[in-house]
Amino acid sequence: MDWGTRGAALAAAAVFALGMGLAERTQAADTVVMNLGWATPLESDYGILAAKFEELAEKYSNGTVDVKLRCCAQISTEDDAFKALQLGTVDGYFISQNNVSPHWPLMDVFVLPYIFQNTDHILKVSGGPVGQKIRDKIQADTGVHLLTFGGPGYRDMFNSRRPVNTIEDLAGLKLRVPKNQVMLATFEAFGAEPVPLAWSETPTALQTGTIDGGDNGTSVIREMKFFEFAKHLIILDHFAGFAPVFASNRFMNKLDEDQKAAVLRAAQEAGAYHTQVKVAEIEEIRTWLSTEGGMSITRPERGPFIAAAQEVQQQFAADRGDEFKALVDEIQAAAD
Ligand code: PAF
Repeated sequence: MDWGTRGAALAAAAVFALGMGLAERTQAADTVVMNLGWATPLESDYGILAAKFEELAEKYSNGTVDVKLRCCAQISTEDDAFKALQLGTVDGYFISQNNVSPHWPLMDVFVLPYIFQNTDHILKVSGGPVGQKIRDKIQADTGVHLLTFGGPGYRDMFNSRRPVNTIEDLAGLKLRVPKNQVMLATFEAFGAEPVPLAWSETPTALQTGTIDGGDNGTSVIREMKFFEFAKHLIILDHFAGFAPVFASNRFMNKLDEDQKAAVLRAAQEAGAYHTQVKVAEIEEIRTWLSTEGGMSITRPERGPFIAAAQEVQQQFAADRGDEFKALVDEIQAAAD
């Protein structure tokens, strides 16, 4: 090959290599970081789901989605997180459904007391058409993506003053409720004295005796060491709990199609894993609270609580409009 031919061949090879390089660069996705926050401790129930999601999202995206776990309200309080997701200043956050509804009231269908008959009913609804409608609609209305509802559970009541064996025993107890209208109305209907308080203020209020107690997911009571301040645990299963993981539109828009599929798959599988963990652990944690935690447990007869709850359900179904009522009907129809 003469120098002229060799030069042309080298130039062609260089152009080809440059082209390949560009093609490879457009194919290999940029790494996207997701700061995933929540308000409770690292080892908490939310932490278990977050760690599984991190593992799977990184695996399915071949490491191009880098999930950073930010527990303990490092990047936002739970009360502020929904707004931050809408603004895009937070990538992802766990927000219990009761703390979503001040921003998107339809979520209260999942807050209504005794709206679910049991854990199977919760799973059937959250994993079925109603759950899908809520996911689609919250995204359309607010721009926030609901990646998974996470595993189901219940909020257990606790207080520092006395055992509760009947609904009458709640009279005069100052119980913290999240800033949620359904919860407030429910505790009023139960005859307690509800005190609406942000989560960030709740541990101090309990320690200083500003409140007598409240209710939380069973595992939260253990992780937050509430058993050190409130010795009476009351199991009523009055409110269902979820571990909903949300993502901002700003974060989702940074992902290419493969990364998006990886994140959605990871969230779905991590949610299924979390469901198994939560369903298996609830009675074990209650036993722990009554032994090592030193709490006394009561399980009052539920009839009077359910009767009071049904009035709350009817009141909200009547007040909140047709869409809300239609979802309540659909949830009730899904019960066995
Ligand atoms: O009680 C609340 O506000 C929530 O359940 C909590 C503990 C912040 C977890 O989402």
